[in-house]
Amino acid sequence: MIKKCLFPAAGYGTRFLPATKAMPKEMLAVVNKPLIQYGVEEALAAGLTEISIVTGRGKRALEDHFDISYELEHQIKGTDKEKYLVGIRKLIDECSFSYTRQTEMKGLGHAILSGRPLIGNEAFAVVLADDLCVNTEGDGVLQQMVELHNYYKCSIVAIQEVPKDQTHKYGIIAGEEIEPGLFRVSNMVEKPKPEDAPTYMAIIGRYILTPDIFEKIEQTGPGKGGEIQITDALMKQATEGNVLAYKFKGQRFDCGGAAGYVEATNFCFEHFYKEL
Ligand code: G1P
Repeated sequence: MIKKCLFPAAGYGTRFLPATKAMPKEMLAVVNKPLIQYGVEEALAAGLTEISIVTGRGKRALEDHFDISYELEHQIKGTDKEKYLVGIRKLIDECSFSYTRQTEMKGLGHAILSGRPLIGNEAFAVVLADDLCVNTEGDGVLQQMVELHNYYKCSIVAIQEVPKDQTHKYGIIAGEEIEPGLFRVSNMVEKPKPEDAPTYMAIIGRYILTPDIFEKIEQTGPGKGGEIQITDALMKQATEGNVLAYKFKGQRFDCGGAAGYVEATNFCFEHFYKEL
């Protein structure tokens, strides 16, 4: 059973400057909740209670968010404002949080490798918090992937079709469809130009990885943009037939950019936000 979920959260969030100058991008609020809290809620709903966060300099607000604030608790005790903290208290009560730092920014693969001491030798999930995923019709995306992993026992990436001119923003996969919406990956390319893309099926920020990925990352040299890419390490697993790509049920908002962030805000306001 998978219990751990890793959140790479060391990135600078340059696309949201100046908002992210002194605040982690993962703390940007979609309506009233920071992006990373949506991710942790999705993890908990999938039964993943051990939350591991790879942070960096200037990211202390993340640790404070997933901790009790005694002063605040004292101030609002017995008032009608206590209800605002019910959601975050549930996460603090039901999950454990551990942290490590990525001291150099050398890519997503490197960030995941930095989390190795927190993960050890077991399969784990990875959430990129700026991809906000929702499914108003049923199980969350991680829950869907955990169920698939329990059956297939291999690495799984979540995918969605993207417009042809967007392939340069994503890892793109190709493979054989083994059941509706589920592909055994035979090829993966990090951020190809449209003319070099094998398909338009793009990896989004949800992964389940088997622990041999760490050795594969260690064997992976710098790729696209001079960074250690998780896509390249996964390709090594894929040549052994051990990576599935899953067209998840639900919606994903790219909150790493303004358009997706605004869309997510409107969606969450309409669907989840309740005036307490
Ligand atoms: C990363 C991965 C990419 C993936 C994307 C999903 O890119 O490298 O393969 O498609 O996340 O959001 P980034 O968005 O960090 O540049």
